[in-house]
Amino acid sequence: MKVVITRGIFPEVVDKLRGRFEVVHNGDDRPWTPDELALRMQGASGAMATVMDRFDESILARCPDLKVISNIAVGYNNIDVAACTKRGIRVTNTPGVLDDTTADLTWSLLMAAARRIAEADSYVRRGDWKIAFGVQYFLGQDIHHATLGIIGMGRIGQAVARRARGFDMRVLYHNRSRLDGATERALNATWVERDALLAQSDFVVVMAPYSSATHHMVGAAEIAKMKSTAILVNSARGGVVDDAALVQALKEKRIAGAGLDVFEGEPRLNPEYAKLANVVLTPHIGSASRATRIVMCNTAAANMSAVLEGREPPNPVN
Ligand code: DGY
Repeated sequence: MKVVITRGIFPEVVDKLRGRFEVVHNGDDRPWTPDELALRMQGASGAMATVMDRFDESILARCPDLKVISNIAVGYNNIDVAACTKRGIRVTNTPGVLDDTTADLTWSLLMAAARRIAEADSYVRRGDWKIAFGVQYFLGQDIHHATLGIIGMGRIGQAVARRARGFDMRVLYHNRSRLDGATERALNATWVERDALLAQSDFVVVMAPYSSATHHMVGAAEIAKMKSTAILVNSARGGVVDDAALVQALKEKRIAGAGLDVFEGEPRLNPEYAKLANVVLTPHIGSASRATRIVMCNTAAANMSAVLEGREPPNPVN
């Protein structure tokens, strides 16, 4: 059976698959165009894909032999799951294995934005540091004892909340469904309406997956409800935050700053972001530790193999 790995992954994972399947691997890691993807997929029963590979109806229609799309990601907004289900194609993802790594990156952005780390680093590198100590150099926001508001309290949101304990923070969250009382107590987290969270939080962390329901969930109206000293962090998905609205708010200093790992239309960046000192930018690296990415690839390989070998995959989406 032929399987396609759409991007460059770890050789040891490819080697394991080569023992069981005929593998086409995009070893040079350049994202394929839709036409290139459709061409490579000819005769393929399985695909291991990333969030950059769109599997919509127009591609699926050109992949008549496809039985499984195994995303190397917890998110799967690159795949038209309903269309896959109709065609009998299984979709799988990699939940659970990247929660802590993504929570770590979320905190890295939060702390970098709060304490202006990227700005200060550039200042030192540029040679602008002429006076050893300034009482008013790079004043930022305190993290300890501040209020953290998390929008979207799934596994990663909860991992973000757990880390707040070390900073003696008050934790608010908003989620469609409330956590059970024991989990709320363990996380020291209080459910509030979204507007209350926006108004009261010193740090607003967006942790919701992207869908038509969460498109621009944080836009101009929501940002207007935030404190002028607050910091917004998005390490979930581009499009959940309205980039144009956030750029405008950061320009006008209506909030203190932002830390962003995900953007609308990645890898294109709203060019205004790059001109702003009060935003820290990273290129969709939430789960990018070596250990976690290896586990994600192995998990995706196990999901794909299970479907192709007639077993139920460990992480089905449909
Ligand atoms: C995920 O797992 O969804 C990450 O964003 C990587 O794509």
